[in-house]
Amino acid sequence: MLLCSTPAPFLDNTTPMTTPDSRAANGNLVTKLPTDQELVLKVIPMPGDCNANGDIFGGWVMAQVDLAGSVLPARVVKGRMATVAVNEFIFKQPVRVGDILSFYARINRIGNTSISVVVECYAERFRSQGQFVKVTQATLTYVAIDDDGRPTPIQR
Ligand SMILES: CC(C)(COP(=O)(O)OP(=O)(O)OC[C@H]1O[C@@H](n2cnc3c(N)ncnc32)[C@H](O)[C@@H]1OP(=O)(O)O)[C@@H](O)C(=O)NCCC(=O)NCCS
Repeated sequence: MLLCSTPAPFLDNTTPMTTPDSRAANGNLVTKLPTDQELVLKVIPMPGDCNANGDIFGGWVMAQVDLAGSVLPARVVKGRMATVAVNEFIFKQPVRVGDILSFYARINRIGNTSISVVVECYAERFRSQGQFVKVTQATLTYVAIDDDGRPTPIQR
């Protein structure tokens, strides 16, 4: 599954980026993990995933979000899917080498052939493991496709 960037006609405003945050003793913004979403992916970025600033390249984060977002729709579709849209993508905080990233997802809407998913990514910073910083939130849409790559109705 590859990423594509599209305008955002369907912005998801149901999950605000303003999860109550607090500051840990080391100054990091920390937050609670979501309880209404499923943990769908954990991964640790490596030095080879960095951009010129030394932070993790946004495209790498987008690829992980695309993979994470596909997990719940895959269970519904049980067949071929394609990402049709990245409707919203917010890089709230930088991601750094050695962060433990946890991706949480929930299905936002199931349509005739498409499924919209909200993905949130939380980082446990290097040397601050156990404290979670929300770094990214995105809304993506996946489409069930047939063997010819055409949209096909989702069986429910
Ligand atoms: C995905 C693909 C098969 C959809 O075909 P299409 O003819 O454009 O699809 P339709 O216009 O019939 O829309 C299909 C569904 O997607 C939804 N959709 C289309 N564009 C959307 C967008 N920008 N945001 C949200 N949903 C969208 C439609 O609302 C429809 O949902 P519904 O059936 O639940 O109502 C086709 O666009 C495609 O092959 N795209 C490339 C996919 C790809 O390569 N992805 C990975 C790399 S970017």
